[in-house]
Amino acid sequence: MARITASVYTSHVPAIGAALDLGKTGEAYWQPVFAGYDFAKQWIKEAQPDVVFLVYNDHATAFSLDLIPTFALGTGASFTPADEGWGPRPVPMVHGHPELAAHIAQSVIQDDFDLTLVNKMAVDHGLTVPLSLMFGQPEAWPCKVIPFAVNVVQYPVPSGRRCFQLGQAIRKAVESFDEDLNVQIWGTGGMSHQLQGPRAGLINREWDNRFLDRLIADPAELAGMPHIDYVREAGSEGIELVMWLIARGAMADVAGGPPPTVLQRFYHVPASNTAVGHLILENP
Ligand code: DHB
Ligand code: FE
Repeated sequence: MARITASVYTSHVPAIGAALDLGKTGEAYWQPVFAGYDFAKQWIKEAQPDVVFLVYNDHATAFSLDLIPTFALGTGASFTPADEGWGPRPVPMVHGHPELAAHIAQSVIQDDFDLTLVNKMAVDHGLTVPLSLMFGQPEAWPCKVIPFAVNVVQYPVPSGRRCFQLGQAIRKAVESFDEDLNVQIWGTGGMSHQLQGPRAGLINREWDNRFLDRLIADPAELAGMPHIDYVREAGSEGIELVMWLIARGAMADVAGGPPPTVLQRFYHVPASNTAVGHLILENP
């Protein structure tokens, strides 16, 4: 059977992608950001996932105000890196896992989560920057990736509670797929940032670190936090953090298993306008 072996959490700052693509990772500004992912890059070489279920948000690239799916599951065989205004990032094509994605669709929709199924979709920095942070700059991504886009751009956005419950349904779906697959689930976006308005530039280190503590130790309680708290404390784009609860909901302890092992915890400011947070939780 397929198994969810670990969850990974990371910010997706577009300037991180640009720093990588333009060869600036050694610069004094960026060096401490990338150093926070040295452990992850080593670890994932050994962990060797077959499939990453990658929870991220689209930034008006594949979707727009014309069409706003709350939860969009990428069921296609491949996904092209998007042109976000400066041309597509020079990163490999993303290859999906249509069979596992179809199985997840069947299971999760029958569990009462009304997903949108997307067979064709471009993927923006929300998805490609986490892949680059974890895998570096390979010729081809070393595993299949199932994109799962969550609307955290246009209100109403899904609640933390709904995201946490959805993670549990995704776990049940993956672990009932009849093929030996090592599956990781990644929650991306965040941490605190606000890109526009009078509060642009807002960063809240204390709140971010408390979020990490609670995500590790008591995600069920954290899932009850209302949107207004994210936006007030972590800025308008801090709401991206609700997506981390999907990945956390898919871990074994939430289904009555043992607590995860914290393999990596990293927090750094500054990186563009965003506080960078990163966690790796492994199922024992
Ligand atoms: C920045 C962060 C984001 O999450 C994003 O989608 C765009 C820009 C930033 O830090 O500049
Ligand atoms: Fe973003």
